[in-house]
Amino acid sequence: MNKLEKTVVLLPGDGIGPEVTHAAAQVLVDCAHEFGHNFHLIEQPIGGAAIDSAGTPLPKSTLDACLSADAVLLGAVGGTKWDQLPVGRRPESGLLKLRERLGVYVNLRPVKLRPALGNISPLRPERSSHVDMEIVRELAGGIYFGKRGLYGEQAGETAFDTEAYSAGEIERVAKVAFERAMGRRKHVASIDKANVLESSQLWRRTVNRTAAAYPGVELRHLYVDNAAMQLVLDPGQFDVILTSNMFGDILSDEAAALAGSIGLIPSASLGPGPGLYEPIHGSAPQLAGKDSANPIGTILSAAMLLRESFGLSREAAWVEEAVDRVLAAGRRTPDIAMPGETSIGLEAMSAAIRHELAHPSQHAEGYGWGV
Ligand code: NAD
Ligand code: IPM
Ligand code: MN
Repeated sequence: MNKLEKTVVLLPGDGIGPEVTHAAAQVLVDCAHEFGHNFHLIEQPIGGAAIDSAGTPLPKSTLDACLSADAVLLGAVGGTKWDQLPVGRRPESGLLKLRERLGVYVNLRPVKLRPALGNISPLRPERSSHVDMEIVRELAGGIYFGKRGLYGEQAGETAFDTEAYSAGEIERVAKVAFERAMGRRKHVASIDKANVLESSQLWRRTVNRTAAAYPGVELRHLYVDNAAMQLVLDPGQFDVILTSNMFGDILSDEAAALAGSIGLIPSASLGPGPGLYEPIHGSAPQLAGKDSANPIGTILSAAMLLRESFGLSREAAWVEEAVDRVLAAGRRTPDIAMPGETSIGLEAMSAAIRHELAHPSQHAEGYGWGV
């Protein structure tokens, strides 16, 4: 068996970030133990925690550690304590700078209904049973990184943000979407606002040009307003969704709700250097310190890290299947418990998953090693 030696930087961040990151880090430790790998886990501050300890949301020591790591696992940043800061100094700006400096230009957000959860979706079962899509979100450009500012006779009277994309930025993320579709149901829905925005017209033209190299993949275009509606009406029509930074942010929270909870959804942000893995949710300040957040989105992000950055598909499946068995056994954090159902806390959920990893209850033969 191939034993790997890897460094993973952990960025717990704020709110529920430290709780969910800790749960996922333990799964990485268990994985290393089970499969004989050596994972060095190094914790660094980011976001509000880093503003408090070092005066800046992305200290140089944190950035340097991430740049020289093999992969980065992040919880979440932000919270009311720092909400009055200007945008460029907020906790969230530390995360944006990290994404920029790591060069992670694509963010993969797989959203699927986990069958073990039964009828969890707010949609009727005949619609929700087909929720299985991957959102390919552009992550390094668009309105998040365009020119912005304030002007006016009295400073602050007028504010602007700019959506700018180059053909090169669109093409590189579109290629990823087509590649991902090749490994799935071979369908890409590209989502834009080309009836209004110049940047979306370039987006559409560039995606069409890129599509020519993938004749086996069916491409269609939707305007974002219609796409938001179609997601709720008929989510089964979506396989890979390709979209811009801002539209991807919004649509992925909507899609997450269709699968039951935002607390379940992982993500991988990829580029030429170390990958960045994070659940798609935020710091949920109202849940922080209450042992009630769902750690599964972060644990599944760790599984994506194993697969995408380390090439450890078997280990990733080992984690994902343990999560599904724990759900099948009826374990629920409050966000995925149906009314009247008993729920457990984050610690108990994390312990149940670790127990399942150590003592697989069934289907162990599915992992491909003798037991
Ligand atoms: P949020 O994702 O933190 O919370 C939205 C809703 O989802 C809340 O009802 C929350 O309780 C619930 N939720 C989120 N994660 C959950 C989990 N793991 N388990 C159960 N329920 C969960 O979004 P928000 O309230 O808009 O933002 C809160 C803060 O987080 C803000 O400061 C925001 O900027 C920040 N944020 C950070 C990230 C990130 O670090 N990647 C992402 C989104 C928001
Ligand atoms: C996310 C978050 C971030 C984003 C914020 C916190 C910068 O909402 O990861 O989805 O908009 O990308
Ligand atoms: Mn978001």
